[in-house]
Amino acid sequence: MNEKELEPLRREILDAVSGAESREALEEARVSALGRKGRITTLMKMLGSLEADARRAAGAALNRLKDEVEAAISTAANRLLHSELERRLAGEKVDVTLPVEIGGEGRIHPISQTIDELTAIFGEMGFEVAEGPHIETDFYNFTALNIPPEHPARQEQDTFYLPGEHGSRKVLRTHTSPVQIRTMLAERPPIRIIVPGRTFRSDHDATHSPMFHQVEGLVIDRSTHMGHLKGCLIEFCRAFFEVDDLPVRFRPSYFPFTEPSAEVDIGCSREGGGLKIGAGGDWLEILGSGMVHPKVLEVCGVDPAEYQGFAFGMGIERIAMLKYGIPDLRPFFDSDLRWLRHYGFLPLEVPSMVGGLQR
Ligand code: PHE
Repeated sequence: MNEKELEPLRREILDAVSGAESREALEEARVSALGRKGRITTLMKMLGSLEADARRAAGAALNRLKDEVEAAISTAANRLLHSELERRLAGEKVDVTLPVEIGGEGRIHPISQTIDELTAIFGEMGFEVAEGPHIETDFYNFTALNIPPEHPARQEQDTFYLPGEHGSRKVLRTHTSPVQIRTMLAERPPIRIIVPGRTFRSDHDATHSPMFHQVEGLVIDRSTHMGHLKGCLIEFCRAFFEVDDLPVRFRPSYFPFTEPSAEVDIGCSREGGGLKIGAGGDWLEILGSGMVHPKVLEVCGVDPAEYQGFAFGMGIERIAMLKYGIPDLRPFFDSDLRWLRHYGFLPLEVPSMVGGLQR
């Protein structure tokens, strides 16, 4: 048995390998040549019955053939893998020039739409979007915000508790304000951020959901003052509610982490039972705000003698309900498609200050 005698077998096996069109066909070709009962294996088993010289020559020839076949199989396997990938990629190709199909079941949830709208407005004013975790430590959610352990403000913000390290506990954040702390600890001023996100309190009735959304705002710079707070929030309210002369009122209030603090009301009228945003002699509270308390700056390593600024926090459901005339809070989180079809937005209605907040 020499190379010449093996040549027809060699051709046959190599043709089967290179002709294999699938991984299964290749595996079949491999088994029929090199498997336990394969053609090459069978010949190798017969070597034992040959004379020593003939065995050496035949053994060498068979080994070379085996090496060649193995190399051919691995080349073929690579080729198949490649073409399978090509085929899959071709099959999954997206034609970006196809017209978009809108008007199906999918809608943008009013919460997402409202977040996009307020991000467009604050984005235009130079704010960046910041984020923080939903599970917070007591320090970030309360203590660093000048709400020490026995402070009555904690009672108003009862939440859900999780075990923390070393016997401490973690909380589901009761407001987006902890991101003020996280941002000031991580970045040097000037800071200009908004923080839209999920918040939690253990309240549940017609106007309170245990999970809701807020947007926080924080501006810190050397000369930021109360005038900036007022200008920024008046501008926001008018842009968001799309009423150019919307009356906006600042009412003294109290938050442990701002001093002075102000609640912000917008003008409305309740004539005829309905609610209309705009002038009308009545007021609606929509957000809390104030100048960041020096103690909060200090905790974050920001020198209050050098820097100051303002913060605000607003409930997203509330402003969405007011703007879009949504009467009840509860269905926001019911995942009822009928509600979503009615109050939701089409995916192409991306709000922008140039294209319009709402079309
Ligand atoms: N964190 C406050 C709340 O949830 C709102 C707020 C934020 C007030 C920032 C002032 C400044 O009620």
